[in-house]
Amino acid sequence: MAYETIIVEIEDYIALVKLNRPDAMNALNSQLLGELADALTAAQANDKVRCIVIAGSEKFFAAGADIKMMSEMNFVDVFSGDLFAEETGAISRVRKPIIAAVSGYALGGGCELAMMCDFIIAGDNAKFGQPEINLGVIAGMGGTQRLTRVVGKSKAMDMNLTGRFMDAEEAERSGLVSRVVPAKKLMDEAMSAAAKVAEKSMISVMAVKESVNRAYETTLTEGLAFERRVFNSMFATDDQKEGMNAFLEKREAQFRDR
Ligand code: HXC
Repeated sequence: MAYETIIVEIEDYIALVKLNRPDAMNALNSQLLGELADALTAAQANDKVRCIVIAGSEKFFAAGADIKMMSEMNFVDVFSGDLFAEETGAISRVRKPIIAAVSGYALGGGCELAMMCDFIIAGDNAKFGQPEINLGVIAGMGGTQRLTRVVGKSKAMDMNLTGRFMDAEEAERSGLVSRVVPAKKLMDEAMSAAAKVAEKSMISVMAVKESVNRAYETTLTEGLAFERRVFNSMFATDDQKEGMNAFLEKREAQFRDR
């Protein structure tokens, strides 16, 4: 599929997906989210991809869902079409790790897209927000749900009720982002984090993603039981033997995803 609103580059087992609607600050419309879902689904199936990075430009990751597009829609349109549910469902089903590299604005659906990723690395110029309340609506892709789980009720309420933006420093303090780096170094940092992930066993990597995400879906007792069983099952893999033998033999492990 030829893409018009995203650019995909695959190199050294990393798929870099750049959002590319510069005239609208990468506002998310059906085309962009459809292309993104397609690209990520293809990356999932591609043996040459072991980690995915989603990025915008230096000034904006994405300024939210496309307000122009939504301004022409009524309740029946968004309800019967279940706006963006299919695309975001496809993104959430990707089992390979996805890193969001956020520089500049990540607002509304942009913040929500970043939160759909597995972790967020932010440039020191990043600004996160759920300003949908200013448009007479509310967040619709996780801004009242994922954000609350990540930063807690008080900050999530503050962001969603006032529509204020959170800077990178506050986002790191609140646990929304894993690291903050100077904006100019963001892509280097994100790509080297992706390279680190890409050198691990894909089986362990996908098991980590599934296990951490399980923490959001279940009780602690159930989650710990799930983790234990996944841990146990790792001992059926060649990569467990290789990883432990490599440690004992003081050499780098050569994982084969087996
Ligand atoms: C469509 C957008 C846009 C958006 C910016 N643009 N955000 N177009 N949808 N979300 C366009 C502007 O219309 C403008 O186009 C160009 O990008 C530059 O924007 P400016 O406002 O002129 O830039 P600036 O003054 O620097 O302000 C930047 C900004 C502001 C703070 C990011 O643009 C802004 O507040 N944007 C809206 C943020 C927002 O409310 N997001 C939530 C959307 S609702 P022209 O053609 O005039 O140059 C949402 C719901 C998700 O995300 C759930 C769905 C299920």
